[in-house]
Amino acid sequence: MKIEPGGPIPVYLPYLGAEVHAAVDDALDEGWLGLGPLTARFEQEISSYLELSGRYTVSTNSCTGALHLASLVAGVGPGDEVICPSFTYVAGHQAVSATGADIVFCDIEQETLGVDPASVRSLVTDRTKAVMAVHYAGIACRIDEINELAAEHGLRVIEDAAHAFGTRHRGRPIGSFGDLTCFSFGPVKVITSLEGGAVITPHETDVQRLHELRLIGVTDDTDARYKRGRTWDYDVVRQGYRYHLGSVPAAIGLSQLAMIDTFISNRQRYCRIYDESFQDLRDVTTFDTDFTDVSPYIYVIRVPDGDARTKLMEHMRGLGVASGIHFEGAHNYTFYRDCRRSDLSVTERISEQVVTLPLHPFMDESTTDRVVASVRSFFE
Ligand SMILES: Cc1ncc(COP(=O)(O)O)c(C=O)c1O
Repeated sequence: MKIEPGGPIPVYLPYLGAEVHAAVDDALDEGWLGLGPLTARFEQEISSYLELSGRYTVSTNSCTGALHLASLVAGVGPGDEVICPSFTYVAGHQAVSATGADIVFCDIEQETLGVDPASVRSLVTDRTKAVMAVHYAGIACRIDEINELAAEHGLRVIEDAAHAFGTRHRGRPIGSFGDLTCFSFGPVKVITSLEGGAVITPHETDVQRLHELRLIGVTDDTDARYKRGRTWDYDVVRQGYRYHLGSVPAAIGLSQLAMIDTFISNRQRYCRIYDESFQDLRDVTTFDTDFTDVSPYIYVIRVPDGDARTKLMEHMRGLGVASGIHFEGAHNYTFYRDCRRSDLSVTERISEQVVTLPLHPFMDESTTDRVVASVRSFFE
């Protein structure tokens, strides 16, 4: 899809150029569609991009699946509590509640809109098993403090890095340190494999378990069984799920990974253009970052709560510029409204203020100009 002059500007627009089409054609020509060598290659390339050393990448067909499997290998189950921000996508909450554990909602802090370590601390009990730390919009949360707190209380940390593939923290890529990290390669993420995800673990003992969990409990993948010439010869050793990543999505992921440096530097540039263009607007708050180490997934501004946000979004829509809201706060959803929680006043306020503007891997000047004008003309 191309943006026509004056035509609609969507919030997301994945790059699906010639390289991606060629990768699909090649993968189809190979004739092996399931979990196979291309999946393994995608995992190797992810490990190398993330500069992993002594850590392992296990791909999945979504980040939701990755978060579910990470929760399981962290030992999360019925009777346990997992502390999660309410201000995140419900995929994380669903992954935890699928294990039978109880979700406990913590608040976020203003600067990164990631988990507030003080709020997490206030919620820890002897039932707490893990904390889910989300790197919102690609901006690293206060992960060092969360890791310290977790070490103090013997908790596992599941990093939801669905937004943060390529973000660096203290000079190291997210995923290259810490406990369990999950990424998304969903349709609109920084790189896409159409649908896809990955768990990064530092524990070699997790790898076989993750492989079984993602392949309905089966001990050997089909590729290995084909190579042995006995595809029917396997054992089933646990309850598992159908979460593995097939060859065609892996091939798309590989073609996107080859372009990630361009995607990230472009997105950083557009974020800086936006920041600069809004800096004199009293009613618009932006993140306090120059995006140097950030792999930006969404560009989010905050505007005064109340009518202003709805009116701004309507005004932008009238000018052909789409916008979004990430996120509304999961503690208000029917399924989660009885969950234990800390004070959620930052979540309550921020979720009324955030507006997501269009951010694509490739945007021409007229597109960013139109997005800027659609916001400025509302406030001026
Ligand atoms: C914070 C967060 N976590 C997890 C997910 C789930 O990712 P996936 O769509 O790959 O399952 C998303 C999806 O947008 C997300 O925003």
